[in-house]
Amino acid sequence: STRKKYRIAVIPGDGIGQETTPEGLRVLDAAARRFGFDLELVHYDWSCEVYSRTGKMMPDDGLEQLRQSDSVFLGAVGWPGVPDHVSLWGLLIPIRRGFDQYVNLRPCKLLPGATTPLANRGPKDIDFYVVRENTEGEYSSVGGRMFPGTDREFVSQQSILTRIGCDRVMKYAYELAMTRPRRKLTSATKSNGITFTMPYWDERFAEMGKNYPGVTTDQFHIDILCAHFVQHPDWFDVVVGSNLFGDILSDLGPAVAGSIGIAASANINPEKAFPSMFEPVHGSAPDIAGKWIANPIGQIWSGAMMLEHLGEKAAADAIVSGIERMLSEGGPRTRDMGGQAGTVDVGKALAEAVGRA
Ligand code: NAI
Ligand code: MG
Repeated sequence: STRKKYRIAVIPGDGIGQETTPEGLRVLDAAARRFGFDLELVHYDWSCEVYSRTGKMMPDDGLEQLRQSDSVFLGAVGWPGVPDHVSLWGLLIPIRRGFDQYVNLRPCKLLPGATTPLANRGPKDIDFYVVRENTEGEYSSVGGRMFPGTDREFVSQQSILTRIGCDRVMKYAYELAMTRPRRKLTSATKSNGITFTMPYWDERFAEMGKNYPGVTTDQFHIDILCAHFVQHPDWFDVVVGSNLFGDILSDLGPAVAGSIGIAASANINPEKAFPSMFEPVHGSAPDIAGKWIANPIGQIWSGAMMLEHLGEKAAADAIVSGIERMLSEGGPRTRDMGGQAGTVDVGKALAEAVGRA
């Protein structure tokens, strides 16, 4: 048959990742049935618990195993007792780097019933994406320390921007802007103070823009851009930034859109040369793990982003609109959204909503 089948590597990880991932899969399964494709799930128990037994977050051939999949669907990793840099550098970073996931994408969308910390703002005011360059820029390993312990002691760390690195993330951002009704793209810069790399960034932004005459562009220095996220979130549609600026904006953006339990993210290799990875923004939340009260919406929304990347846009849209409908119709909410529902209640309600979309 011509029915499509996608192979998904599932890594629930630690803490509430164990609770939210099954709800993400429940909703993905409902979407697959409703929209006529198959998901072949391959489960991996890689986590801090495994690390405590084996001394490794994942086996030596971990990336080779994941390479066989179309996408990676991750919960969260990190647990008290294992240093966070061990869990991060033992699992997430090798996947992001090894699979050249050069786009980090986060939707910043105020959902009905979610509370924004911004006064007098509603769902129509906050609906944009942050696109972060995820491989180079300020987070380079070029630099060093010299003359340690002497009065000549100095350190340096260089920002590295490459033409390939700038152009490919900007192309992605322009293409994304083309799919949005407002077709607007904002660039984060700081070319007034950082006088080699950031003017280059601006140059590549303008150059790429020539291919997209239908996209309206603007650019702001990162400092005032942060202020505008808070004061004028309605100005933004798609925002692209270097690794450091994107890092800042991709935490600020979801924060203005409300609960951490809702925020979703994707680490994307747009050419699909490698699997991309989809995960909620939140961590393993040891403070509420085991209580089954975690909000699964961030995980479920990440699943929608995964389906969109795989080419199942109708199914992805059905999940996002299902979330919006459930919340605006007074469906079950977890405590972080002022309700009393459990993780599974929300997952079941959404699976049901998507199944009849
Ligand atoms: P966290 O996101 O796990 O928790 C921060 C606060 O938000 C906690 O009070 C938690 O209860 C709440 N929260 C988080 N997700 C929620 C949800 N779905 N529903 C309701 N409430 C939720 O961040 P934290 O506490 O800084 O880190 C805990 C562990 O997670 C650490 O080991 C950290 O390294 C790891 N982590 C992993 C990430 C990943 O896997 N990508 C991302 C962030 C942290
Ligand atoms: Mg960050």
